[in-house]
Amino acid sequence: MRIAVVRERADGEKRVAATPETVRKLAALGASVGVEAGAGEAASYADADYAATGATVGDLPSTVAGADIVLGVQGPDPASLSGVTQGAWVVASLNPFGAGENGRARVDAYAAAGVEALAMELMPRITRAQGMDILSSQSNLAGYKAVLDAAAEYGRAFPMMMTAAGTVSAARVFVMGVGVAGLQAIATARRLGAQVSATDVRSATKEQIQSLGAKPVFVEGVAGIEGEGAGGYAGETSSEYQAAQAALVSSHIAKQDIVITTALIPGRAAPRLVSDAQVASMRPGSVIVDLAVEQGGNVEGAVAGEVVEVHGVRIVGHRNVPSRLAADASALFARNLYNFLSAFWDKDAGRPVLDAEIGDAVRLTKDGKVVHARLLDS
Ligand code: NAI
Repeated sequence: MRIAVVRERADGEKRVAATPETVRKLAALGASVGVEAGAGEAASYADADYAATGATVGDLPSTVAGADIVLGVQGPDPASLSGVTQGAWVVASLNPFGAGENGRARVDAYAAAGVEALAMELMPRITRAQGMDILSSQSNLAGYKAVLDAAAEYGRAFPMMMTAAGTVSAARVFVMGVGVAGLQAIATARRLGAQVSATDVRSATKEQIQSLGAKPVFVEGVAGIEGEGAGGYAGETSSEYQAAQAALVSSHIAKQDIVITTALIPGRAAPRLVSDAQVASMRPGSVIVDLAVEQGGNVEGAVAGEVVEVHGVRIVGHRNVPSRLAADASALFARNLYNFLSAFWDKDAGRPVLDAEIGDAVRLTKDGKVVHARLLDS
């Protein structure tokens, strides 16, 4: 069993799919591990540290030659996989529903290359898979970093300070969307001393917001959230609900210094939560961080990959926020992949063997064909 760890080639991607720690653990399962030279460099993991685990460090062709499993953060170029064994696994975040060459087209190319592509972002959110959940591990860090990015752009302090020269008032931070990223954003802003409020469409988050010492801001008495979506996710809201939410947010947002938006609906464009008029209502020097900017954006005027100033308000739209904390993001991502492979490791077969519940959820291609149910209808 040979496992290959390849260097990321996507623009701005600094993470790596295995760290020296997880390479050592993979070797302990009985695998021989090859790491592409420089794979961990941007995340502060040196080739020498991989080599010290007993892994071979080499160029791309020699790393993937004869590999049974290829690990990546984002999907490796299908053309680079010509030397892998027939039916080798490609384990990474694969963006299967995305358009363009790094989305569905790449899945088709994996099928044509005869590899079994496993999309880790499709891991079911069930208790036994929590340690394999790359969305949670990466969103948590993104929520933390969003608050630090806001603090860096903000020309004032977060905590209240009483000094001999006078009092500095606490920043007011409003978090919109309280999933994994939003919860960490609330906790981080609280630790920095801000006054924090938060909103979500899922009423279950109200208690979570309160338990972190923040104030919930919720639409009350309006029907129209179409259930709470599947698997604990949000669903789409009715137009009546959207109007009530917009009115509530308008009166609240004008009094905020920092807004962090994280709202996503799986399989759809991100909901628009902040309009241009609402941006204009904030005082100059305020900061908005839109973590959903790559999925279409929660904030009107946000630009992916840029920090823009609109009506005197800075709107931060960094791409790939987890990569901005590449060392920790890699450590957690790598453990997610290790947890996945080790949980299914079959000692007799000397390789992992998936069960149907998780296998069917993550497997995109097999035996030269696209096999994932959600890709077959599209
Ligand atoms: P997400 O990234 O899909 O969405 C972020 C947040 O945006 C969600 O809380 C969602 O309700 C909210 N949102 C969507 N539309 C909105 C709107 N119009 N206005 C305001 N907020 C809106 O969510 P994430 O972080 O992936 O978490 C989703 C759920 O999955 C949570 O309930 C989380 O606790 C649960 N979960 C379960 C796990 C497990 O059991 N293994 C692991 C991780 C998360």
